Amino acid sequence: MENGKDFAAISRANQIRALPNRLLQLLVLFLVLCFVFSVVSVYMIRHYGANDVVATVMPSLQPFLEEEPFSLERWIKPPSKLLHSMSDEELFWRASLAPRINKYPFNRVPKIAFMFLTKGPLPLAPLWERFFKGHSGLYEIYVHSLPSYHADFAPTSVFYRRQVPSQVAEWGKMSICDAERRLLANALLDINNEWFVLLSESCIPLYNFSVIYHYISKSRYSFVGAFDDPGPFGRGRYDENMAPEVQISQWRKGSQWFQINRKLALFIVADTKFYPKFSEFCKPHCYVDEHYFPTMLTIRAPNLLANRSITRVDWSRGGAHPATFGSADITEQFMKRMLENYTCLYNDQPTSICYLFARKFAPSALEPLFLLRPKYLGY
Ligand SMILES: *[C@@H]1O[C@H](CO)[C@@H](O)[C@H](O)[C@H]1NC(C)=O
Ligand SMILES: *[C@@H]1O[C@H](CO)[C@@H](O)[C@H](O)[C@H]1NC(C)=O
Ligand SMILES: *[C@@H]1O[C@H](CO)[C@@H](O)[C@H](O)[C@H]1NC(C)=O
Repeated sequence: MENGKDFAAISRANQIRALPNRLLQLLVLFLVLCFVFSVVSVYMIRHYGANDVVATVMPSLQPFLEEEPFSLERWIKPPSKLLHSMSDEELFWRASLAPRINKYPFNRVPKIAFMFLTKGPLPLAPLWERFFKGHSGLYEIYVHSLPSYHADFAPTSVFYRRQVPSQVAEWGKMSICDAERRLLANALLDINNEWFVLLSESCIPLYNFSVIYHYISKSRYSFVGAFDDPGPFGRGRYDENMAPEVQISQWRKGSQWFQINRKLALFIVADTKFYPKFSEFCKPHCYVDEHYFPTMLTIRAPNLLANRSITRVDWSRGGAHPATFGSADITEQFMKRMLENYTCLYNDQPTSICYLFARKFAPSALEPLFLLRPKYLGY
């Protein structure tokens, strides 16, 4: 009996011990399932996005997760950041999208895009900061520099994070036109940019913002230097292989420092007709940046061109490069000379304000320019 009692007690004890073992197995199985499920869902979210996974798992929740319906805001809001991952081909295609209805269905305040084509730093930035002060909403800034250069403007600067994705650009080569088209394309992404000015790090504004905005916005024409030069440095650079797209009578020359409106900017960014001709036949002593845009725009929209530049360049010192002014040059006499004694046509009427910008100024010119600016430049 003693043994029988013992046996019963032992087998009951075994049963009691067997129960937690079964529980433990179930628990392990449950944990393994949990692990597998979480791995699978992480994988699916990575590959298909959270919404799809959630939608398949919980279809009834979908209405809550759908995006807001399209609003106009979505189409007219400029990109929040200038940096993007588009290639030139993708960027130009995107920038070439344009409305076919002329009237904007919202209150559009047209802006001037100031596009700086630079090597790196902007030594005259303090002058420009003064110039732009108090006019936000009427301008945007875009900077194209060598890709190796990293700008470090303070968050309070007008140049802070205004750098666009850039590539190496060489003077006189097609890569400089590519850089200018890249600047235009980036600026076109903001639908409120109506006028586009190309500048360099050695340019200064000759008037205050109000005068310049008024002058550009009220002009019937865009300011592109374009003239027919019969000599060896004009027509002499024309190559017959450019025909029939470009005839010699259409061949133009002009400084690259342009100011154009949105329509002309679209022509430039969307051009696939003239680009191959210039890139193949305007080299090596052709200086494509002096011919491509003036010629192309003369063919596309001659009636929209003033055929003169609004950026003053001084060639009086002779040589292959225009004069660069340093600190010793900047006197009161110099400032007077720079602003006076011109006549040109503005909206087909004679005017004495012919240039809105001037170049080239060395970094050392900053200090005297900054001192004389209130008296002569009005900002
Ligand atoms: C800008 O300059 C013009 C002409 O010099 C002047 O009449 C005008 O008051 C100036 N505007 C501002 C905002 O300083
Ligand atoms: C600019 O030149 C073109 C021809 O090259 C001409 O048709 C146009 O009228 C000129 N613009 C002005 C304002 O004279
Ligand atoms: C303006 O031009 C006239 C004649 O060309 C000249 O006599 C005068 O000195 C010039 N004025 C300035 C400020 O350069």
